[in-house]
Amino acid sequence: MMPIDTGPQKTDPGATESAGIGADTPFEIPLKYFPPAFVDDSAKQRFESRLGQFLNVCAPLNKAGSVAVFADNLLTIGRAFSFLEDRRFTDTLQACAREERDLVIAWRTHVLTWAAKSCLALEGDFVECGTYRAYSAEVICGYVEPHRHGKRFVVYDLFDPDEAAGVGHRLPSHGDTLFAEVADRLAPYPGTLVVRGKVPDALPETAPEKICFMHLDMNNAEAEAGALAFLFDRIVDGGMVVLDDYGWAYYSEQRVRADRFAAEHGQFIVELPTGQGLFIKRAAAAR
Ligand SMILES: C[S@@+](CC[C@H](N)C(=O)[O-])C[C@H]1O[C@@H](n2cnc3c(N)ncnc32)[C@H](O)[C@@H]1O
Repeated sequence: MMPIDTGPQKTDPGATESAGIGADTPFEIPLKYFPPAFVDDSAKQRFESRLGQFLNVCAPLNKAGSVAVFADNLLTIGRAFSFLEDRRFTDTLQACAREERDLVIAWRTHVLTWAAKSCLALEGDFVECGTYRAYSAEVICGYVEPHRHGKRFVVYDLFDPDEAAGVGHRLPSHGDTLFAEVADRLAPYPGTLVVRGKVPDALPETAPEKICFMHLDMNNAEAEAGALAFLFDRIVDGGMVVLDDYGWAYYSEQRVRADRFAAEHGQFIVELPTGQGLFIKRAAAAR
């Protein structure tokens, strides 16, 4: 039976720490399954066993020319995956990846970089709340190159969080050296500012006055609601916001609060098949 990797959704504790994964081989999305929250262990085992059998029926999966692709918990049949034909994109993913999961989320990263690229011509800077090891931030820097367009990119994280309210859960690479590692990693890109601090408290001192692109990825409803409340007025008309956790059932509180905020501000969030939410700010939106 086809093995399904049941590593956890947000991180891979067994992840390799070396930079760049699969850089010497043609790009292929790894076959990996992120287990959702299950009520009990036996339901989890039953589901995973049947999923393994089902994926086996669908094989070959994730190969060049495969009809079916299973990635980021999404089974697609007959999709083009045209972004994988962009060699500069796949080379960037492979160069920036630190763990297999980084490659599994290739479609998410395509959406993210598409949004960032679409905002390059607008006035304002880039912001990311929830940077962790800076995978998404480095892909944006390397592939979208905001610095070449005169943009600043301000990224926020606690880097060594406690389990306090308003803070996402702790991940394996969190610790007192992570801030310095991320600062090093993003140092080659001029205009990038790495802020170690709690969102939204750190925003008034450091956030750009005008923002054209924002990525929210904090796994925490209070932090993301606070970021939206503080930064929304700074987002320029046509600016884009990508909410990484929006469509994942486990993070439904984030979706509920983001939807409430959007409704109060005349905005419309689309839930994407990748699990992300996306809205394009319309200053004159319908209410
Ligand atoms: C899923 S990770 C971000 C992943 C990252 N975008 C990447 O590409 O790997 C979520 C991060 O949000 C951070 N975070 C959670 N709550 C926060 C808060 N209130 N302020 C700042 N950072 C926060 C966590 O420390 C964690 O590193």
